[in-house]
Amino acid sequence: MLKRISFLFFLLLSAQQPGGSILAPAPPMGWMTWNYFGENINEKLVKEMADAMAQNGMLNAGYEYLMIDDGWQGGRDKKNNLIPDVEKFPSGIKALADYVHSKGLKLGIYSDAAPLTCAGYTASFGFEEQDAKTFAMWGIDYLKYDYCNAPKDVKTAIARYRAMADALQKCGRKIVFAVCEWGVREPWLWAAQQGAQLWRTTYDVRDAWSSVMEIYGQNVTLYPYAGPGHWNDPDMLIVGLRGSKGPAGLYGGIGCTDIEYQTNMSLWSMMAAPLIATNDIRSMHERTKNILLNKDVIAINQDVLGKQAERKIKDSVFDVLLKPLRGGDFALAILNHSDHAHEITIDFNTLGLQGSYEIKDLWRKDEMGIAKKWKGNVLSHETKLFRLQKIK
Ligand code: GLA
Repeated sequence: MLKRISFLFFLLLSAQQPGGSILAPAPPMGWMTWNYFGENINEKLVKEMADAMAQNGMLNAGYEYLMIDDGWQGGRDKKNNLIPDVEKFPSGIKALADYVHSKGLKLGIYSDAAPLTCAGYTASFGFEEQDAKTFAMWGIDYLKYDYCNAPKDVKTAIARYRAMADALQKCGRKIVFAVCEWGVREPWLWAAQQGAQLWRTTYDVRDAWSSVMEIYGQNVTLYPYAGPGHWNDPDMLIVGLRGSKGPAGLYGGIGCTDIEYQTNMSLWSMMAAPLIATNDIRSMHERTKNILLNKDVIAINQDVLGKQAERKIKDSVFDVLLKPLRGGDFALAILNHSDHAHEITIDFNTLGLQGSYEIKDLWRKDEMGIAKKWKGNVLSHETKLFRLQKIK
């Protein structure tokens, strides 16, 4: 209870800051190496991804962070400075950051609050200030900070995340700080106060429908904790992975249908989650592109109010989510999580909405006129996504 009150107090204070001055005023968008490439990363790959993002419409659509996950590290030099693996990154991270920045993108990197990372590479515990300065010197814009090999108790976790947050605040560069302790110690209750802009709420996503549903179920209830500069992070998108080998393909990650990928994008957008693609964006299937680059859907995710959708209906066939948007608009999502198609009717009144709205179906790109309810067929595992525009 005390923690909840102090979180609300923190929200009150942070809400008073001028919008432009906070880090991550909207959920971060980008691409991350992990789900597809795991530790098999190098500077050539990262540059190719930067080129792809600048050319394939991703950067224009808002995907601005290019993030290097675990596997880039090469230990420490004689002065204990963190260094990259020279075989994977022979030109160094600063040169890579310069290249990424020259494309109009930002660069993210990864470390861990223990001596070693999850994949066993050199990490930052005990070297927080030195590593934060190194990241700043390289031109890093985002740090994902993992929690493998660290003590289990929440007190230590808070202290270790605080140490890195403080170091980042002193490092001379604005670096978004992403906590990754998988929701185990309820970071939504403390991570923002320690200086983080987002925190993972679940274990790793897999390229499977069951994983999308499990993670959605855990994250959807956390809507009070999301807002500008402080986001729930239900892990990366799996859109377009199509059962490829890589970490997201492990433990039953057999791939999803395009309808299911569309649901992944819809729900993450509704939950104001970071939109971090992980498929091979150098050669995207048209269907994948249509899902990741739908501007109307992205606008729901990035809306300036920064509200995470609230689940209004939960039954054995479908869920209904409602997300307030600026100007009195709403985003409405209808998820059919059952194994059969269903005809569904949603009366907007039952969701607490008064009056009439202009409806737009954001996946079919269909302006449907003014209405007080929606009735239609929703396929198995499909999410219908609408913008309800308030009639002025
Ligand atoms: C953990 C994280 C993943 C990824 C790996 C890297 O499992 O949850 O997102 O960063 O570590 O080793």
